[in-house]
Amino acid sequence: STVYPFYGSHQAGIVTPAQDRLHFAAFDVSAGVTRTELIELLQDWTVAAAAMSAGQDVGEYGATSGPYDAPPEDTGEAQGLATAGLTITFGFGPTLFKTADGEDRFGIIGRRPADLTPLPHFPGDDLDTGRSDGDLCIQACSNDPQVAVHAIRNLSRIAFGRAALRWSQLGFGRTSSTSTTQATPRNLFGFKDGTANIKAEEPDVVADQVWVSAADGPAWLAGGSYLVARRIRMTIETWDRTSLREQEAVFGRTKGAGAPLSGGTEFSEPDFALAGREDQPLIGAAAHVRLAHPTQNQGAKLLRRGYNFVDGNDDLGRLEAGLFFISFQRSPAQFTTVQLNLAKHDALNEYIRHVGSALFAVPAGIADGSYVGATLF
Ligand code: HEM
Repeated sequence: STVYPFYGSHQAGIVTPAQDRLHFAAFDVSAGVTRTELIELLQDWTVAAAAMSAGQDVGEYGATSGPYDAPPEDTGEAQGLATAGLTITFGFGPTLFKTADGEDRFGIIGRRPADLTPLPHFPGDDLDTGRSDGDLCIQACSNDPQVAVHAIRNLSRIAFGRAALRWSQLGFGRTSSTSTTQATPRNLFGFKDGTANIKAEEPDVVADQVWVSAADGPAWLAGGSYLVARRIRMTIETWDRTSLREQEAVFGRTKGAGAPLSGGTEFSEPDFALAGREDQPLIGAAAHVRLAHPTQNQGAKLLRRGYNFVDGNDDLGRLEAGLFFISFQRSPAQFTTVQLNLAKHDALNEYIRHVGSALFAVPAGIADGSYVGATLF
């Protein structure tokens, strides 16, 4: 089974190949927690995350070797399971630095990156505050859903009294490939998703578009990234009554092979100028891949690492389903540029609704013996 190193120059779970399962959690630091207690929480989280990433139980005694009259240090449900490529990625939200009331709870307001401000409101946003934002986030990915859930559960347990879960999201069937070694998966609309994604095998693009550089400032975030999470509800039932012609026109790609409607195979570059009948471009003005393409967004690219979700159904008998969109980028402006273009013009908007949103600064990787975000304090 795959084991990704937890310690390193960048956090795992960004350019490491996207796994099949996700448990993502956002936390709020509890009232009255001091700077020292926050640092202790990050230290405790680091030790536990390193252990779980290596396939070990949490704590000195793990699930079953501890004192008989105390709750076990590890909750136990991952015993006997391989890590299945578990990665645990931590992020810091804007409110960690400055609360809505402008309070500097942990003495770090001066180190808040200028870019770490809540995302703007986009046309069509229908956000639920209970599924948005948070002081801290943890992205746990694994090819085994129980391993990802075990990670979030144990880290939540460790946080008890110091930080509380604000919202969390399970995901399956990664909707992006982040490595050329991976086959492109499909989203719940049945289309290949991740074809034109940033891939780990393009180090120049990753350096230019994913990692924050020392010159971007502040220094503590160098080697880190920004994580955008958007819970996007997909109206599956409407989509399923839509013709194949319309479905392909919405994306600008074929449903089978995932090739651009301008021709070629999955990885052919789309030709946005190529005319079809009556001089209409084959990839229409409102097609998702046209509007999301770097040429339409001042060169901005995103490393997409999202997941499908189905959280049962709503009270009208419709699937409560969609895409839990996650992207990593060097600056939130990359996401904002693309999303603004999509929010205004995308043909896909008829079939989706953004219902949750969050932005986090993801610190650089952690050196063995140190803890996540150490350079911030
Ligand atoms: C491309 C689906 C939301 C950014 C694609 C593709 C599909 C797709 C099928 C073509 C294959 C590929 O290159 O991956 C969806 C669905 C969404 C959604 C179903 C919502 C439920 C978003 C959002 C953003 C975004 C919110 C960013 C703000 C992109 C980008 C590309 C892309 C950058 C690649 C464009 C290119 O360079 O060709 N998406 N997407 N997508 N999407 Fe989305």
